[in-house]
Amino acid sequence: MKTVVALPGEGIGLEVVDATCELLMGTGLPLKILTPPQGAPLPDETKRAAREADGVLFGAAGPKTSPVVSWLRWEMAAWAGVRPIRFFPGMRSPLAEPNGIDYVILRENSEGLYPGREGQLADLVRLMPDIADRTGRTVKEFGTEGRFAVKVVTPRGAERIGRFACDLARKRQARGKPGKVTLVTKSNVLPKTDGLYDEIVGRIVSEAGLAFEHFHVDDAARRLVRFPRAMDVVLCMNLYGDILSDLGAETAGGLGLAPSGNFGDGWAYFESVHGSAPDIAGRGIANPTATILSAALMLEHMGLLAEAQRLEAAVGRVYRDGKVLTPDQGGTAKTRDVAQAVLAAYR
Ligand code: NAI
Ligand code: MG
Repeated sequence: MKTVVALPGEGIGLEVVDATCELLMGTGLPLKILTPPQGAPLPDETKRAAREADGVLFGAAGPKTSPVVSWLRWEMAAWAGVRPIRFFPGMRSPLAEPNGIDYVILRENSEGLYPGREGQLADLVRLMPDIADRTGRTVKEFGTEGRFAVKVVTPRGAERIGRFACDLARKRQARGKPGKVTLVTKSNVLPKTDGLYDEIVGRIVSEAGLAFEHFHVDDAARRLVRFPRAMDVVLCMNLYGDILSDLGAETAGGLGLAPSGNFGDGWAYFESVHGSAPDIAGRGIANPTATILSAALMLEHMGLLAEAQRLEAAVGRVYRDGKVLTPDQGGTAKTRDVAQAVLAAYR
């Protein structure tokens, strides 16, 4: 028997996690699903249950439940965000030719601008009056009315995510993918911080004998729309990965389809890429696919690879059939109906 801790978050998180847990229970897999209390701060008993569980499935955070994701991702240091972008025929992609979109956005989850470290410009000016941009303009020339944010990068952070990207690319290569890492930074404007990633990740990928390419984030955004099939593992610094994963999700058919797995040292949890969607919450029309596919990633992590693949194949069948789809995919089905259709296809 394996134990799963399910934390729904709020808004549509409740609906998609409920539907996914009902589906998981219906598969007959030897799983025990626990739903410990959330609350702010996250109760110690919940943290303990999540640490001890074989799998942790999260729904989506909103303003009330941001401490949940804050603990899962930042306090537990889940530094690698794996976000597969995959088109299944029948998904409602806005692209003319979405067939064959199958890559992973790997988001560095722990450095860069997230989580926010912000302050008053007056304090920065007092501490570092002479820190200047490349034109020589110092911060004190902005005056003291204003705010600032700190972007932090370290060689350790760049190295470990670079290695993770290589491992992921090799795993995909074994399944017939090209074995390529595409690094996304903005090192033309940020040569010291983003440039450190260029230098370290470029070296690690070359040493691993894998193909390496680099694009600045603006160019990368365009390429993910125009040439998505050319992508394999797309390693993004934190903020860029946040933005580009919504963009990538949409090219494959929508935000309600994009799953993720977040990995740290001896720690992992799984969640949809989307948030709590207050605009549609409470109506039972949220697409559960992102959470179901996140559950498949969780099963794989728990050592249930065949079952994970079977669940992904079941999702594929539901889209190919095109009969039971939520409104975002052009259907009229409810969240639970889609999950139950996936269960029927799984069986
Ligand atoms: P959002 O991802 O919740 O929604 C963006 C748009 O996509 C909305 O129109 C929504 O209806 C639609 N959408 C999202 N998931 C869907 C689904 N499964 N099925 C159908 N349509 C779906 O992003 P938004 O509105 O910017 O943020 C809402 C709240 O969620 C905020 O409090 C934000 O901080 C939080 N958030 C939490 C995340 C997390 O828990 N990891 C990630 C992103 C946002
Ligand atoms: Mg996001």
